[in-house]
Amino acid sequence: MSALPFSKISAPLNGLLAAIGLMTVAALTASDIAGRTRLALELLLAGIWIIYCLQLTGTLFIQRTTDLRDRIPVIAVDVLAVLVPLAAFLLDGTRDQSLYCAVWLLKPLRDSTFFRLVGRVLTNEARNLIGVTSVFGIILFSAALVAYIIERDLQPDKFGSIPQAMWWAVVTLSTTGYGDVTPQSFAGRVLAGLVMMCGIGIFALWAGLLATGFYEEVRRQDFVRNWQLVAAVPLFQKLGSAALVEVVRALRPRVVPAGTIICRKGETGDRMFFIVEGRVSVAKPNPVELGAGSFFGEMALISGEPRSATVSAVTEVSLLSLYSVDFQMLSKNSPEIADIIRKTALERRGAVPDPPLEGNDTKSTP
Ligand code: CMP
Repeated sequence: MSALPFSKISAPLNGLLAAIGLMTVAALTASDIAGRTRLALELLLAGIWIIYCLQLTGTLFIQRTTDLRDRIPVIAVDVLAVLVPLAAFLLDGTRDQSLYCAVWLLKPLRDSTFFRLVGRVLTNEARNLIGVTSVFGIILFSAALVAYIIERDLQPDKFGSIPQAMWWAVVTLSTTGYGDVTPQSFAGRVLAGLVMMCGIGIFALWAGLLATGFYEEVRRQDFVRNWQLVAAVPLFQKLGSAALVEVVRALRPRVVPAGTIICRKGETGDRMFFIVEGRVSVAKPNPVELGAGSFFGEMALISGEPRSATVSAVTEVSLLSLYSVDFQMLSKNSPEIADIIRKTALERRGAVPDPPLEGNDTKSTP
């Protein structure tokens, strides 16, 4: 059997296989599962393991298109998914052989862009997160120390040493409050209140740092993607870097499938569109096709009148939308580009429609 199809297992299927494997591992821990049922479940695990072996072959020998550095996490996960259960199987006498298949928990991570995002956020925010964690550690130790001094004589079994008091400090600082250890003295209770408040503050700081980190990383990724798209539109190549940054922030990317009506004649227009890839058709008595690098929807934006024609996607089209308010900004910062857009709008308004063009629109593309 060729390993090729298994090297291309899709991310959802990978996740599904791992989920089935893990549920099987969980089921096998139940003591009432025995005999044939146990055998069937173990065979199921063996089947998944064989698929993972083929997938590993694919990862190592077939999918070599991407850079090795990018493939290292995927290779590591695939190798562990095969080797850990194999090692457990070969180690005679371990009664928890199937438990080692729990390493398949890593499988969904190999394809997940979300986990990569989490990794980048943690790396970017490492300094601040370590800072807050240090504060957490300092407060934790101080709380345990003070609680030990206050409570050790009253409850020697629970606060008899700093490590013992540390358990109370962790439970209180995290505001979990199991209630198994509680201070008896008035001073101890005041301390508990203070520790809880510090805990709330520290967790809020952690959450804030992570939320900001996610927001910034997602924005950065969007910016890089938009930059690449904007660079593909010749009109924007006239812009200086500062103006380009503004435009990249203002433009919203969108992909529409072939046949979609992007704007309808008579509608109010609050945005214009730049074509990055694909073709659209402007429904005029003699329809006009516009291709990559062209723009449309500018007439309604400039004149405030309703859309002059219906525009639909001939192929799948990658577009960048520019809203009215951002168009004003562009007009202010880059009058040259705004002039080209205005002139094109005027030409189109006065244009006697041409016969349909093949491929890109050459007449109305600036
Ligand atoms: P708007 O009127 O906002 O919406 C329809 C769009 O079709 C219009 O802006 C122009 O961008 C485009 N359009 C209208 N007439 C022509 C034409 N003759 N050639 C190319 N594009 C046109």
